[in-house]
Amino acid sequence: MKKLIFIDATMREESRTRKIARPLIEDLGKRYEIETISLDGAGFPAVDGKILQDRDHGIVPEEFADMARRIAAADRIVIAAPFWDMSFPSELKVFFENMSLFHITFDSDDTHCYGLCRCEKVLYITTRGMNIRTGEPLEQATPYIRALSYLWGLGDLYVISAENMDYSSPDVIESKISDAVRKGLELCKDF
Ligand SMILES: Cc1cc2nc3c(=O)[nH]c(=O)nc-3n(C[C@H](O)[C@H](O)[C@H](O)COP(=O)(O)O)c2cc1C
Repeated sequence: MKKLIFIDATMREESRTRKIARPLIEDLGKRYEIETISLDGAGFPAVDGKILQDRDHGIVPEEFADMARRIAAADRIVIAAPFWDMSFPSELKVFFENMSLFHITFDSDDTHCYGLCRCEKVLYITTRGMNIRTGEPLEQATPYIRALSYLWGLGDLYVISAENMDYSSPDVIESKISDAVRKGLELCKDF
């Protein structure tokens, strides 16, 4: 069975983003073996001078290197993350920093960097409080994920989003979530 890594960067018990992601992951679970990496409270360290020094000496925590190898070997990646401070939660950025490992997720030669990942498609699921749509200049999460996909060689990026969640009535919020799930399930047919 092909492998899918689900990076769950949702941070609230009642997360709307997770409400969209859950049925999609359930559906994809019929065709993929799913490994979920939950970032809430995972405590990945920000990469600092000490960690860089260790890396220079070939020292990387084995569990991080193993996880990065599994990411590099995954056929598909799904990321669920709420829209925070015009991007995504720093737990996700810090996770990416720890997984962005030379010779595992990417490499370089004398002239350029290139990705080492097997993945061909990435699905990014999010909800936003304000009425900001995917690809608008104020939306700084998708451009980052797209750029990282380029660095790691993850293939095409698909986005499922719901907006204006903090300024809609409970009924409208629920219908936005249902719409996103419908669109997501449609997308999953060919994912
Ligand atoms: C710490 C924090 C930062 C946020 N920053 C933004 C923001 O910059 N722009 C925005 O549109 N919404 C922002 N929001 C609102 C969330 O994007 C919105 O409520 C979203 O639906 C939350 O997703 P969740 O239910 O999956 O946690 C923020 C919410 C939190 C808790």
